[in-house]
Amino acid sequence: MSVRLIDKYAHEFIEKDALAAMEERLIKADAMLKARSEENDYKGWYDLPLNYDTEELAAIERAAEKIRTESDVLIVIGIGGSYLGARAAIEFLRSRYYNIQKKDTPEIYFVGNSFSGDDLDDVLALCEGKEVSVNVISKSGTTTESSIAFRMVRHMMLKKYTNSEIKERVFVTTDKERGALKAFADREGYNTFVIPDDVGGRFSVLTAVGLLPIAVCGADVRAMLRGAANMRRRIDAEGMKNDAYRYAVLRNLFYEQGKCVEILGSYEPSFRMMNEWWKQLFGESEGKDGKGIFPASVIFSADLHSLGQYIQDGKRVLFETIVKQKQVRKDMFIPSNAVDIDGLGFLSGVKMSSVNDEAMIGTLLAHTAGGVPNLIVEYDKRDEENLGELIYFFFIACAVSGYILGVNPFDQPGVEAYKRNMYALLGKPGYEELKEELLTKIHAL
Ligand code: PA5
Repeated sequence: MSVRLIDKYAHEFIEKDALAAMEERLIKADAMLKARSEENDYKGWYDLPLNYDTEELAAIERAAEKIRTESDVLIVIGIGGSYLGARAAIEFLRSRYYNIQKKDTPEIYFVGNSFSGDDLDDVLALCEGKEVSVNVISKSGTTTESSIAFRMVRHMMLKKYTNSEIKERVFVTTDKERGALKAFADREGYNTFVIPDDVGGRFSVLTAVGLLPIAVCGADVRAMLRGAANMRRRIDAEGMKNDAYRYAVLRNLFYEQGKCVEILGSYEPSFRMMNEWWKQLFGESEGKDGKGIFPASVIFSADLHSLGQYIQDGKRVLFETIVKQKQVRKDMFIPSNAVDIDGLGFLSGVKMSSVNDEAMIGTLLAHTAGGVPNLIVEYDKRDEENLGELIYFFFIACAVSGYILGVNPFDQPGVEAYKRNMYALLGKPGYEELKEELLTKIHAL
Protein backbone atom coordinates (compact mmCIF):
# COMPACT_ATOMS: atom_id res chain seq x y z
CA MET A 1 0.00 0.00 0.00
CA SER A 2 1.43 3.35 -0.92
CA VAL A 3 -0.85 6.40 -1.12
CA ARG A 4 -2.95 6.74 2.03
CA LEU A 5 -5.01 9.29 3.94
CA ILE A 6 -4.11 10.20 7.52
CA ASP A 7 -6.83 12.14 9.33
CA LYS A 8 -5.70 12.07 12.96
CA TYR A 9 -4.87 15.79 12.95
CA ALA A 10 -8.45 16.56 11.96
CA HIS A 11 -10.30 14.39 14.53
CA GLU A 12 -11.24 17.35 16.70
CA PHE A 13 -13.11 18.85 13.69
CA ILE A 14 -15.02 15.68 12.80
CA GLU A 15 -18.25 15.03 14.63
CA LYS A 16 -19.40 11.41 14.48
CA ASP A 17 -23.01 12.39 13.74
CA ALA A 18 -21.99 14.62 10.85
CA LEU A 19 -19.92 11.80 9.39
CA ALA A 20 -22.78 9.32 9.70
CA ALA A 21 -25.09 11.83 8.02
CA MET A 22 -22.76 11.82 5.00
CA GLU A 23 -23.03 8.08 4.51
CA GLU A 24 -26.17 8.13 2.40
CA ARG A 25 -24.71 10.80 0.11
CA LEU A 26 -21.53 8.77 -0.28
CA ILE A 27 -23.52 5.66 -1.26
CA LYS A 28 -25.32 7.74 -3.87
CA ALA A 29 -22.05 9.26 -5.12
CA ASP A 30 -20.51 5.80 -5.45
CA ALA A 31 -23.52 4.62 -7.48
CA MET A 32 -23.29 7.71 -9.70
CA LEU A 33 -19.59 7.13 -10.33
CA LYS A 34 -20.21 3.52 -11.31
CA ALA A 35 -23.35 4.15 -13.39
CA ARG A 36 -22.83 4.01 -17.15
CA SER A 37 -24.83 6.03 -19.63
CA GLU A 38 -25.56 5.53 -23.33
CA GLU A 39 -24.34 9.06 -23.94
CA ASN A 40 -20.78 10.21 -23.40
CA ASP A 41 -20.52 10.60 -19.61
CA TYR A 42 -16.80 11.50 -19.61
CA LYS A 43 -15.91 8.60 -17.34
CA GLY A 44 -13.45 6.95 -19.71
CA TRP A 45 -10.63 7.68 -17.24
CA TYR A 46 -12.23 5.34 -14.66
CA ASP A 47 -11.34 2.01 -16.29
CA LEU A 48 -8.51 3.35 -18.41
CA PRO A 49 -5.59 2.10 -16.26
CA LEU A 50 -7.10 -1.41 -16.31
CA ASN A 51 -7.59 -1.63 -20.06
CA TYR A 52 -5.23 0.80 -21.68
CA ASP A 53 -4.90 0.67 -25.47
CA THR A 54 -1.57 -1.20 -25.60
CA GLU A 55 -0.93 -0.38 -29.26
CA GLU A 56 -1.32 3.33 -28.53
CA LEU A 57 1.04 2.94 -25.57
CA ALA A 58 3.68 1.24 -27.71
CA ALA A 59 3.31 3.99 -30.33
CA ILE A 60 3.78 6.63 -27.61
CA GLU A 61 6.98 4.94 -26.47
CA ARG A 62 8.29 4.73 -30.05
CA ALA A 63 7.54 8.40 -30.66
CA ALA A 64 9.21 9.36 -27.37
CA GLU A 65 12.30 7.38 -28.36
CA LYS A 66 12.38 9.10 -31.77
CA ILE A 67 12.09 12.54 -30.14
CA ARG A 68 14.82 11.66 -27.64
CA THR A 69 17.13 10.50 -30.44
CA GLU A 70 16.51 13.29 -32.94
CA SER A 71 15.92 16.39 -30.82
CA ASP A 72 17.58 18.58 -28.23
CA VAL A 73 14.28 20.26 -27.37
CA LEU A 74 10.64 19.20 -27.23
CA ILE A 75 8.13 22.05 -27.31
CA VAL A 76 4.80 21.00 -25.82
CA ILE A 77 1.87 23.18 -26.86
CA GLY A 78 -1.32 23.01 -24.79
CA ILE A 79 -3.29 24.56 -21.94
CA GLY A 80 -5.35 23.40 -18.97
CA GLY A 81 -5.82 19.65 -19.04
CA SER A 82 -3.67 19.54 -22.17
CA TYR A 83 -0.71 20.99 -20.28
CA LEU A 84 -0.65 20.75 -16.49
CA GLY A 85 -0.43 16.99 -15.95
CA ALA A 86 2.61 16.44 -18.16
CA ARG A 87 4.52 19.36 -16.71
CA ALA A 88 3.62 18.35 -13.16
CA ALA A 89 4.72 14.75 -13.73
CA ILE A 90 8.05 15.75 -15.28
CA GLU A 91 8.90 18.08 -12.39
CA PHE A 92 7.74 15.51 -9.84
CA LEU A 93 9.61 12.58 -11.41
CA ARG A 94 12.73 14.41 -12.56
CA SER A 95 13.23 17.84 -11.02
CA ARG A 96 12.03 21.41 -11.30
CA TYR A 97 15.53 22.04 -12.67
CA TYR A 98 15.09 19.31 -15.30
CA ASN A 99 15.78 21.60 -18.26
CA ILE A 100 19.10 22.86 -16.97
CA GLN A 101 20.32 19.56 -15.54
CA LYS A 102 22.94 17.44 -17.31
CA LYS A 103 21.01 14.64 -19.02
CA ASP A 104 20.69 12.60 -22.20
CA THR A 105 17.03 13.47 -22.78
CA PRO A 106 15.69 16.64 -24.48
CA GLU A 107 14.85 19.88 -22.73
CA ILE A 108 11.05 20.16 -22.54
CA TYR A 109 9.34 23.56 -22.75
CA PHE A 110 5.62 24.24 -22.41
CA VAL A 111 3.98 27.00 -24.46
CA GLY A 112 0.44 27.86 -25.54
CA ASN A 113 -0.61 28.16 -21.91
CA SER A 114 -0.94 31.97 -22.07
CA PHE A 115 -1.22 34.78 -24.62
CA SER A 116 2.12 36.21 -23.57
CA GLY A 117 4.35 36.96 -26.55
CA ASP A 118 7.26 37.59 -24.17
CA ASP A 119 6.98 34.09 -22.77
CA LEU A 120 6.75 32.46 -26.19
CA ASP A 121 9.67 34.54 -27.45
CA ASP A 122 11.81 33.34 -24.52
CA VAL A 123 11.17 29.72 -25.46
CA LEU A 124 11.78 30.27 -29.17
CA ALA A 125 15.09 31.94 -28.30
CA LEU A 126 16.06 28.90 -26.23
CA CYS A 127 15.54 26.74 -29.34
CA GLU A 128 18.04 28.61 -31.51
CA GLY A 129 20.73 26.30 -32.85
CA LYS A 130 18.98 23.23 -31.46
CA GLU A 131 17.10 20.34 -33.05
CA VAL A 132 13.42 20.70 -32.17
CA SER A 133 10.34 18.45 -32.03
CA VAL A 134 6.83 19.63 -31.20
CA ASN A 135 3.92 17.97 -29.46
CA VAL A 136 0.75 20.00 -29.95
CA ILE A 137 -2.07 18.88 -27.69
CA SER A 138 -5.69 19.98 -27.91
CA LYS A 139 -8.76 17.84 -27.51
CA SER A 140 -11.09 20.33 -29.18
CA GLY A 141 -8.41 21.38 -31.65
CA THR A 142 -9.74 24.94 -31.48
CA THR A 143 -8.31 26.38 -28.27
CA THR A 144 -7.05 29.88 -29.06
CA GLU A 145 -3.97 29.90 -26.81
CA SER A 146 -2.60 26.64 -28.23
CA SER A 147 -3.63 27.43 -31.83
CA ILE A 148 -1.76 30.76 -31.79
CA ALA A 149 1.30 29.16 -30.23
CA PHE A 150 1.24 26.36 -32.82
CA ARG A 151 1.15 28.95 -35.63
CA MET A 152 4.20 30.71 -34.16
CA VAL A 153 6.14 27.52 -33.49
CA ARG A 154 5.34 26.17 -36.95
CA HIS A 155 6.63 29.38 -38.51
CA MET A 156 9.88 28.91 -36.59
CA MET A 157 10.03 25.27 -37.79
CA LEU A 158 9.36 26.29 -41.42
CA LYS A 159 12.45 28.50 -41.34
CA LYS A 160 14.54 25.64 -39.98
CA TYR A 161 13.28 22.49 -41.68
CA THR A 162 11.79 21.28 -44.96
CA ASN A 163 8.15 20.16 -45.01
CA SER A 164 9.13 16.51 -45.00
CA GLU A 165 11.47 17.08 -42.04
CA ILE A 166 8.69 18.87 -40.17
CA LYS A 167 6.43 15.86 -40.75
CA GLU A 168 8.92 13.80 -38.74
CA ARG A 169 9.06 16.36 -35.96
CA VAL A 170 5.46 17.32 -35.26
CA PHE A 171 3.32 15.07 -33.07
CA VAL A 172 -0.34 15.97 -32.67
CA THR A 173 -2.46 14.74 -29.77
CA THR A 174 -6.14 15.41 -30.41
CA ASP A 175 -9.59 13.93 -30.98
CA LYS A 176 -9.82 10.72 -33.02
CA GLU A 177 -11.73 12.35 -35.84
CA ARG A 178 -13.11 15.79 -34.98
CA GLY A 179 -11.67 19.30 -34.86
CA ALA A 180 -9.55 21.66 -36.91
CA LEU A 181 -6.29 20.27 -35.52
CA LYS A 182 -7.11 16.72 -36.56
CA ALA A 183 -8.01 17.91 -40.08
CA PHE A 184 -4.79 19.93 -40.30
CA ALA A 185 -2.64 17.05 -38.97
CA ASP A 186 -4.15 14.67 -41.54
CA ARG A 187 -3.60 17.16 -44.34
CA GLU A 188 0.05 17.70 -43.39
CA GLY A 189 0.68 14.03 -42.63
CA TYR A 190 1.74 14.61 -39.00
CA ASN A 191 1.93 11.77 -36.46
CA THR A 192 -1.22 11.74 -34.37
CA PHE A 193 -2.22 10.40 -30.97
CA VAL A 194 -5.72 10.11 -29.66
CA ILE A 195 -7.43 11.72 -26.68
CA PRO A 196 -10.31 9.32 -26.02
CA ASP A 197 -13.70 10.93 -26.51
CA ASP A 198 -14.88 10.02 -23.04
CA VAL A 199 -11.89 11.46 -21.15
CA GLY A 200 -12.12 15.15 -20.28
CA GLY A 201 -9.02 17.39 -20.33
CA ARG A 202 -8.39 17.47 -16.59
CA PHE A 203 -8.71 13.67 -16.37
CA SER A 204 -6.40 13.05 -19.35
CA VAL A 205 -2.86 12.89 -17.95
CA LEU A 206 -2.81 9.08 -18.18
CA THR A 207 -3.63 9.20 -21.92
CA ALA A 208 -1.28 10.29 -24.74
CA VAL A 209 -1.89 13.88 -23.55
CA GLY A 210 0.41 13.33 -20.59
CA LEU A 211 2.19 10.12 -21.45
CA LEU A 212 4.03 11.28 -24.59
CA PRO A 213 5.81 14.30 -23.04
CA ILE A 214 6.36 12.34 -19.82
CA ALA A 215 7.94 9.46 -21.76
CA VAL A 216 10.25 11.92 -23.53
CA CYS A 217 11.89 12.80 -20.19
CA GLY A 218 12.77 9.13 -19.87
CA ALA A 219 10.09 8.22 -17.33
CA ASP A 220 8.51 4.77 -17.29
CA VAL A 221 4.92 5.51 -18.28
CA ARG A 222 3.91 1.86 -17.94
CA ALA A 223 4.83 2.08 -14.24
CA MET A 224 2.59 5.15 -13.92
CA LEU A 225 -0.32 3.20 -15.40
CA ARG A 226 0.52 0.28 -13.12
CA GLY A 227 0.36 2.61 -10.12
CA ALA A 228 -3.03 3.93 -11.21
CA ALA A 229 -4.28 0.35 -11.73
CA ASN A 230 -3.00 -0.62 -8.25
CA MET A 231 -4.96 2.25 -6.74
CA ARG A 232 -8.09 1.26 -8.64
CA ARG A 233 -7.84 -2.35 -7.42
CA ARG A 234 -7.27 -1.16 -3.87
CA ILE A 235 -10.31 1.09 -4.01
CA ASP A 236 -12.42 -1.78 -5.35
CA ALA A 237 -11.12 -4.13 -2.63
CA GLU A 238 -11.61 -1.65 0.22
CA GLY A 239 -15.14 -0.71 -0.83
CA MET A 240 -16.89 2.30 0.64
CA LYS A 241 -14.25 2.83 3.32
CA ASN A 242 -11.39 3.45 0.88
CA ASP A 243 -9.14 6.46 1.47
CA ALA A 244 -10.13 8.37 -1.68
CA TYR A 245 -13.81 8.24 -0.68
CA ARG A 246 -12.91 9.18 2.91
CA TYR A 247 -11.00 12.20 1.62
CA ALA A 248 -14.01 13.18 -0.52
CA VAL A 249 -16.34 12.88 2.49
CA LEU A 250 -14.10 14.81 4.88
CA ARG A 251 -13.57 17.75 2.52
CA ASN A 252 -17.36 18.02 2.09
CA LEU A 253 -17.78 17.85 5.85
CA PHE A 254 -15.36 20.76 6.33
CA TYR A 255 -17.11 22.64 3.51
CA GLU A 256 -20.38 22.33 5.38
CA GLN A 257 -18.68 23.78 8.46
CA GLY A 258 -17.99 26.91 6.37
CA LYS A 259 -14.46 25.93 5.37
CA CYS A 260 -14.77 26.79 1.70
CA VAL A 261 -11.06 27.00 0.81
CA GLU A 262 -8.85 23.93 0.67
CA ILE A 263 -5.11 24.50 0.61
CA LEU A 264 -3.09 21.66 -0.87
CA GLY A 265 0.37 21.84 0.62
CA SER A 266 3.63 20.03 0.15
CA TYR A 267 7.05 20.30 1.76
CA GLU A 268 8.70 19.30 -1.55
CA PRO A 269 9.25 22.06 -4.14
CA SER A 270 9.14 19.37 -6.85
CA PHE A 271 5.40 19.16 -6.09
CA ARG A 272 4.67 22.77 -7.13
CA MET A 273 3.24 21.87 -10.54
CA MET A 274 1.32 18.93 -9.07
CA ASN A 275 -0.40 21.55 -6.93
CA GLU A 276 -1.36 23.41 -10.12
CA TRP A 277 -2.64 20.20 -11.73
CA TRP A 278 -4.71 19.42 -8.61
CA LYS A 279 -6.18 22.94 -8.55
CA GLN A 280 -7.47 22.55 -12.10
CA LEU A 281 -8.83 19.09 -11.39
CA PHE A 282 -10.84 20.15 -8.35
CA GLY A 283 -11.58 23.75 -9.37
CA GLU A 284 -13.09 22.90 -12.75
CA SER A 285 -14.87 19.83 -11.43
CA GLU A 286 -16.52 21.38 -8.39
CA GLY A 287 -16.77 25.14 -8.84
CA LYS A 288 -20.21 25.50 -10.38
CA ASP A 289 -23.87 26.19 -9.60
CA GLY A 290 -22.75 28.71 -6.97
CA LYS A 291 -21.00 25.94 -5.01
CA GLY A 292 -17.59 24.43 -4.49
CA ILE A 293 -14.46 24.44 -2.38
CA PHE A 294 -11.92 26.95 -3.72
CA PRO A 295 -8.66 25.06 -4.37
CA ALA A 296 -5.53 26.92 -3.29
CA SER A 297 -1.99 25.66 -2.83
CA VAL A 298 1.25 26.22 -0.97
CA ILE A 299 4.78 24.92 -0.88
CA PHE A 300 6.12 24.87 2.65
CA SER A 301 8.22 26.07 4.24
CA ALA A 302 8.54 28.86 1.61
CA ASP A 303 4.89 29.87 1.92
CA LEU A 304 4.96 29.78 5.72
CA HIS A 305 6.93 32.99 5.25
CA SER A 306 4.21 34.51 3.07
CA LEU A 307 0.81 32.88 3.62
CA GLY A 308 1.58 31.33 7.01
CA GLN A 309 0.26 34.36 8.89
CA TYR A 310 -3.13 34.19 7.12
CA ILE A 311 -3.44 30.44 7.57
CA GLN A 312 -2.68 30.73 11.28
CA ASP A 313 -4.72 33.81 12.10
CA GLY A 314 -6.85 35.01 9.18
CA LYS A 315 -10.49 34.34 8.32
CA ARG A 316 -11.40 30.82 9.46
CA VAL A 317 -12.61 29.48 6.12
CA LEU A 318 -9.64 27.18 5.47
CA PHE A 319 -8.68 23.56 5.70
CA GLU A 320 -5.42 22.04 4.54
CA THR A 321 -4.45 18.80 2.85
CA ILE A 322 -0.75 18.13 3.15
CA VAL A 323 0.73 15.80 0.57
CA LYS A 324 3.57 14.10 2.42
CA GLN A 325 6.50 12.30 0.82
CA LYS A 326 7.75 9.52 3.09
CA GLN A 327 11.21 8.79 1.68
CA VAL A 328 13.63 11.33 0.29
CA ARG A 329 15.82 10.54 -2.71
CA LYS A 330 19.00 11.65 -1.04
CA ASP A 331 19.37 12.81 2.50
CA MET A 332 21.73 15.57 3.47
CA PHE A 333 23.32 16.08 6.85
CA ILE A 334 23.68 19.53 8.36
CA PRO A 335 27.40 20.22 8.89
CA SER A 336 28.82 21.52 12.12
CA ASN A 337 30.52 24.91 12.35
CA ALA A 338 33.63 25.54 14.41
CA VAL A 339 31.89 28.56 15.94
CA ASP A 340 28.13 28.34 16.59
CA ILE A 341 27.35 31.85 15.35
CA ASP A 342 23.80 31.07 14.14
CA GLY A 343 22.87 29.16 17.31
CA LEU A 344 21.99 26.09 15.25
CA GLY A 345 24.79 23.93 16.59
CA PHE A 346 22.11 21.62 18.05
CA LEU A 347 21.29 20.67 14.46
CA SER A 348 24.83 19.56 13.54
CA GLY A 349 24.70 16.09 12.02
CA VAL A 350 20.89 16.17 11.76
CA LYS A 351 19.30 15.08 8.48
CA MET A 352 17.55 17.71 6.34
CA SER A 353 14.61 15.29 6.06
CA SER A 354 14.24 15.32 9.86
CA VAL A 355 14.10 19.10 9.88
CA ASN A 356 11.51 19.01 7.08
CA ASP A 357 9.42 16.40 8.98
CA GLU A 358 9.52 18.29 12.27
CA ALA A 359 8.66 21.54 10.49
CA MET A 360 5.64 19.74 9.07
CA ILE A 361 4.47 18.35 12.40
CA GLY A 362 5.05 21.66 14.16
CA THR A 363 3.02 23.43 11.48
CA LEU A 364 0.21 20.85 11.56
CA LEU A 365 -0.13 21.32 15.31
CA ALA A 366 0.00 25.11 15.04
CA HIS A 367 -2.54 25.30 12.22
CA THR A 368 -5.00 22.88 13.81
CA ALA A 369 -4.70 24.83 17.09
CA GLY A 370 -5.54 27.90 14.98
CA GLY A 371 -8.78 26.26 13.82
CA VAL A 372 -7.62 24.85 10.47
CA PRO A 373 -8.41 21.15 10.01
CA ASN A 374 -5.49 19.26 8.46
CA LEU A 375 -5.51 16.06 6.45
CA ILE A 376 -2.43 14.23 5.18
CA VAL A 377 -2.19 12.32 1.92
CA GLU A 378 1.01 10.31 2.14
CA TYR A 379 2.96 8.59 -0.64
CA ASP A 380 6.16 6.60 -0.35
CA LYS A 381 8.56 8.16 -2.82
CA ARG A 382 8.99 10.14 -6.00
CA ASP A 383 8.61 7.47 -8.63
CA GLU A 384 6.29 6.60 -11.48
CA GLU A 385 4.21 4.03 -9.60
CA ASN A 386 3.56 6.35 -6.66
CA LEU A 387 2.69 9.16 -9.06
CA GLY A 388 0.18 6.97 -10.93
CA GLU A 389 -1.42 6.00 -7.61
CA LEU A 390 -1.59 9.60 -6.47
CA ILE A 391 -3.14 10.81 -9.72
CA TYR A 392 -5.81 8.09 -9.70
CA PHE A 393 -6.49 8.69 -5.98
CA PHE A 394 -7.25 12.35 -6.75
CA PHE A 395 -9.37 11.44 -9.83
CA ILE A 396 -11.61 9.20 -7.73
CA ALA A 397 -11.74 11.61 -4.78
CA CYS A 398 -12.63 14.49 -7.11
CA ALA A 399 -15.44 12.65 -8.90
CA VAL A 400 -16.96 11.34 -5.65
CA SER A 401 -16.55 14.69 -3.91
CA GLY A 402 -18.32 16.47 -6.78
CA TYR A 403 -21.23 14.05 -6.62
CA ILE A 404 -21.49 14.47 -2.83
CA LEU A 405 -21.52 18.24 -3.36
CA GLY A 406 -24.33 17.82 -5.88
CA VAL A 407 -22.61 18.98 -9.08
CA ASN A 408 -21.63 17.27 -12.32
CA PRO A 409 -17.86 16.88 -11.88
CA PHE A 410 -17.25 16.33 -15.60
CA ASP A 411 -18.49 19.52 -17.24
CA GLN A 412 -17.06 23.07 -17.24
CA PRO A 413 -19.75 25.40 -18.62
CA GLY A 414 -18.21 28.44 -16.89
CA VAL A 415 -15.00 28.50 -18.91
CA GLU A 416 -16.81 29.66 -22.06
CA ALA A 417 -17.75 33.10 -20.69
CA TYR A 418 -14.33 34.74 -21.03
CA LYS A 419 -13.75 33.11 -24.41
CA ARG A 420 -16.95 34.59 -25.88
CA ASN A 421 -16.05 38.06 -24.63
CA MET A 422 -12.48 37.76 -25.90
CA TYR A 423 -13.59 36.58 -29.35
CA ALA A 424 -16.08 39.45 -29.55
CA LEU A 425 -13.49 42.06 -28.52
CA LEU A 426 -10.99 40.65 -31.03
CA GLY A 427 -13.59 40.88 -33.81
CA LYS A 428 -14.27 37.20 -34.52
CA PRO A 429 -16.95 36.92 -37.21
CA GLY A 430 -20.32 36.00 -35.69
CA TYR A 431 -19.71 37.94 -32.48
CA GLU A 432 -20.62 41.43 -33.76
CA GLU A 433 -23.64 41.92 -31.51
CA LEU A 434 -21.79 40.87 -28.37
CA LYS A 435 -18.94 43.22 -29.32
CA GLU A 436 -21.36 46.15 -29.46
CA GLU A 437 -22.81 45.16 -26.11
CA LEU A 438 -19.39 44.85 -24.45
CA LEU A 439 -18.08 48.13 -25.89
CA THR A 440 -21.17 49.95 -24.62
CA LYS A 441 -20.53 48.42 -21.22
CA ILE A 442 -16.85 49.42 -21.25
CA HIS A 443 -17.59 52.99 -22.34
CA ALA A 444 -20.15 53.38 -19.56
CA LEU A 445 -17.54 52.47 -16.93
O1 PA5 B 1 -10.11 20.25 -18.51
C1 PA5 B 1 -10.49 20.81 -19.53
O2 PA5 B 1 -11.42 20.37 -20.23
C2 PA5 B 1 -9.82 22.08 -20.01
O3 PA5 B 1 -8.92 22.58 -19.11
C3 PA5 B 1 -9.10 21.82 -21.32
O4 PA5 B 1 -8.15 20.82 -21.12
C4 PA5 B 1 -8.43 23.08 -21.85
O5 PA5 B 1 -9.38 24.10 -22.00
C5 PA5 B 1 -7.76 22.81 -23.19
O6 PA5 B 1 -8.68 22.33 -24.10
P1 PA5 B 1 -8.25 21.59 -25.40
O7 PA5 B 1 -7.54 20.35 -25.04
O8 PA5 B 1 -9.53 21.33 -26.14
O9 PA5 B 1 -7.34 22.54 -26.14
